[in-house]
Amino acid sequence: MPKTTVALLFGGKSSEHEISIISARSIARAIDTRYYSVIPFYIDRNGRWFCKGIAEAILDMDLADLMRSSSREQAETTLRSIAETSGQSLFDFNFPALGVDVAFNVLHGTYGEDGRVQGLLDTLGIPYTGCGVAASAVTMDKALTKLCAEDAGIATTPGITLLTPDYHTDPELIHEMIENRFGFPVFVKPASLGSSVGITKVTCREELAGALTLACSLDCKVLAEATITGKEIEVAVLGNDEPLASLPGEIQPGSDFYDFEDKYIRNSAKTFIPARLTEQLIGEVRMKAVAVYRALGCSGMSRVDFFVNEKTGSIVLNEINTIPGFTDISMYPKLFEASGIPFDTLIDRLIRFALEKSDIPRN
Ligand SMILES: Nc1ncnc2c1ncn2[C@@H]1O[C@H](COP(=O)(O)OP(=O)(O)O)[C@@H](O)[C@H]1O
Ligand SMILES: [Mg+2]
Repeated sequence: MPKTTVALLFGGKSSEHEISIISARSIARAIDTRYYSVIPFYIDRNGRWFCKGIAEAILDMDLADLMRSSSREQAETTLRSIAETSGQSLFDFNFPALGVDVAFNVLHGTYGEDGRVQGLLDTLGIPYTGCGVAASAVTMDKALTKLCAEDAGIATTPGITLLTPDYHTDPELIHEMIENRFGFPVFVKPASLGSSVGITKVTCREELAGALTLACSLDCKVLAEATITGKEIEVAVLGNDEPLASLPGEIQPGSDFYDFEDKYIRNSAKTFIPARLTEQLIGEVRMKAVAVYRALGCSGMSRVDFFVNEKTGSIVLNEINTIPGFTDISMYPKLFEASGIPFDTLIDRLIRFALEKSDIPRN
C-alpha cells in the first residue's frame, strides 16, 4: 500500500512559535514511517512558508539555538544560513505538486488554531487534523465560547466582555462596572490569546487600569471574569462523530495562577494524572468535556479545560484549546497515554479522523 503523505505544519506567526516547533518534532519522531511519509512545512514569524530541507533543518535544530533565534533578526540570519548550506531557495511550497494527502497542523495560537489556516487548507482541498474553520474560530474567542457553551446549558465563568475602543472612551465607567459586578480579585484577559499572555489577576481597584490597558493593547475584545475557586482540570477529547474523552488531568499552578512563567519558564506547576477527584466527579467532567466538544462543533481533537469545585461539585468550563501542546510532556498526549492510547497511535488516529472528515462538509 502506498504511504500517506503528511504535510507537518509548524512554527507560525503566534507567540507559541517555539512550542509549535517542539510539538512538531515530537510528532515527526513518533509518526509510524511504515504508513506515513512526512514533508515538514515551517512557517516563520513573518508568515513565510518553507518546506523540505529548510523545515527539516529547523526541526533538527538544537533547542538552545532555537531559543536564541527567537528575535526576528536572529531568526532571519538562521534561516538564511540554513538556506545557503542546503542550497535551497527560501520560498518553495506547493501542496498538490508535492503529493500531500493530509496536513498535520500543529500551529498553536493565532493564524494556526483560529480557523485561518483551516480555511486556507479547505480552499486548497487538503484535509487536516483537528477542528474545522467555525469550531476553531469560535473556541479561539473566549467570549464566543461562553455564548455557545451557555446556549448548550454548560456553565462557564461569569464574566463581561468589553470592546477595546469602548474601554478607551470611558475607562472609569468600566472600572466601576467591573468592581460593582465582581469585586476583587477579578481576572482580566484578552479574548483571543493563549499561554496566559496579557492575563492579570487584579486584586484591587488601583490595579484595574494597568490590567485593562495591557489586555486592550493585545486584543480588540477583553474579558473581566469572576475568580473561580477550584481545581484546574483538563480533559483531552479525540474523534469526530463519537468523541472519546481521556481521563482528566489536574494542574496545580506553582504561582498565584497558571501564568506564562509558570507554563514555560519556571515550570513550577504540578500535574496529576488522573486528577485527584472522586470517581463521580471524574465521570461527570469527562461527560461534560464531550458535551462541550459537541456543542462547539469540534472535530479531530481538542483539550477542554474546567474549574472543578469539589466542595460544591460545580464544574465550570474555562476554555477549549483546539491545538493543544503536543510535546512529549504535554497534557494532551499524556492524558491519552494514561487512558491507553500511546503517542504514536494518537497521531495515527488524528490523521485517520482528518481523512474521514474530508468527504463531509466541515464545521
Ligand atoms: N476566572 C478565572 N478564575 C480563576 N482562575 C482563572 C480564571 N481565568 C483564568 N484563570 C487562571 O489563568 C490561567 C490562564 O487563563 P486561561 O483563560 O486558561 O487563558 P489561556 O488561554 O492563556 O490559557 C488559568 O489556567 C487559570 O490559572
Ligand atoms: Mg488556559
